[in-house]
Amino acid sequence: MRQTLNVKIGENKEYSIDISDGGFEKLNREVYELTKNQKRLVVMSKKVYKLYSEDLNFSDDEIYVFPDGEKEKNYKNYLKILNRAIELGLTRKDVIIAVGGGVVGDIAGFTASTYMRGIDFIQIPTTLLAAVDSSVGGKTAIDLPNAKNVVGTFYQPKKVFINTNFFNTLDNRQYLSGLGEVLKYAFIEESCKHDVPLFLYEFLTLSCEKIIQREPLTLIRLIEYCLKLKIAVVSEDEKESGLRKVLNLGHTLGHALETITKYKKYTHGQAVAYGMFFIFDWAYKKEYINYSYYRLSLDLLEKYGFKPLDTYYPTDKLIDIMKKDKKATSDKITFIVPSGKKQVKEIKLTPFDVEFALKDM
Ligand code: GLY
Repeated sequence: MRQTLNVKIGENKEYSIDISDGGFEKLNREVYELTKNQKRLVVMSKKVYKLYSEDLNFSDDEIYVFPDGEKEKNYKNYLKILNRAIELGLTRKDVIIAVGGGVVGDIAGFTASTYMRGIDFIQIPTTLLAAVDSSVGGKTAIDLPNAKNVVGTFYQPKKVFINTNFFNTLDNRQYLSGLGEVLKYAFIEESCKHDVPLFLYEFLTLSCEKIIQREPLTLIRLIEYCLKLKIAVVSEDEKESGLRKVLNLGHTLGHALETITKYKKYTHGQAVAYGMFFIFDWAYKKEYINYSYYRLSLDLLEKYGFKPLDTYYPTDKLIDIMKKDKKATSDKITFIVPSGKKQVKEIKLTPFDVEFALKDM
């Protein structure tokens, strides 16, 4: 089965996303067809290389095997990919292809956007997290030693190929990480300005077992719903000056937890889930949402195996990290907060308010 979604951003940026459970031969053919007159540099995650290099059929000369892990998304590796592009003789007419999770997609996309002032870029996400989030919408980045994603561009891919076969080899931790971002979409659906209701919240409630079992057709539908919401958001606000901020539900505390634990303890989706528990609690206490929606939402998170944070981190350190977040303004910390059923809004809190809320968690 295959679903194709079209993304249109502004007047002249358009691309399509294929979501499929078809075999790898078909994927190979389509990638080759799309890039047949181009030189390719394929930036591929090391894990993916070990598992799929034979299925994927790229020649070893065009593959750059990229080490896994957030700490690798740095300027030294960026320079190495650039050098490889030069060695291969890539020109402005050529293409960089990312095959991997969010780290590979982010750094390969950043390279494609800056090499010769921008060359074609194709995303082949191999994790659920990258499929429902980072491979679509055009955010690219590398990290500096103490600041995630601070160097980057908005650069839309030419094409995204999502193939659910890759998800069979994700371990439970990685798969659950993707589900953290998936659940986020359920809680923001009404704020995404999608033209018709998709009922993702209900779909997640009713199809939990099939989703946990990674049933391919259910996954295609799930990814389709998440991406329809993301496309609606980024088509209206590519550069995150307004609407796109809704995608950051759970992320303010989530990023702080990832940073304080040096990206070693929690996956991104797990950290975002902790952030969502926290902000749902806060929203209920402040009467932004009623008890029934609050309880149902926590039940939904728990149904997928997520739990509220049970480890203490020094509040002042978390707040210091939140203040450095790209989303923060000079003296306030920005949160996306549930404000009604499947709705969210942006609020700005003083560090004092945040300290109080964290202590009250
Ligand atoms: N990951 C959130 C966004 O793409 O804006």
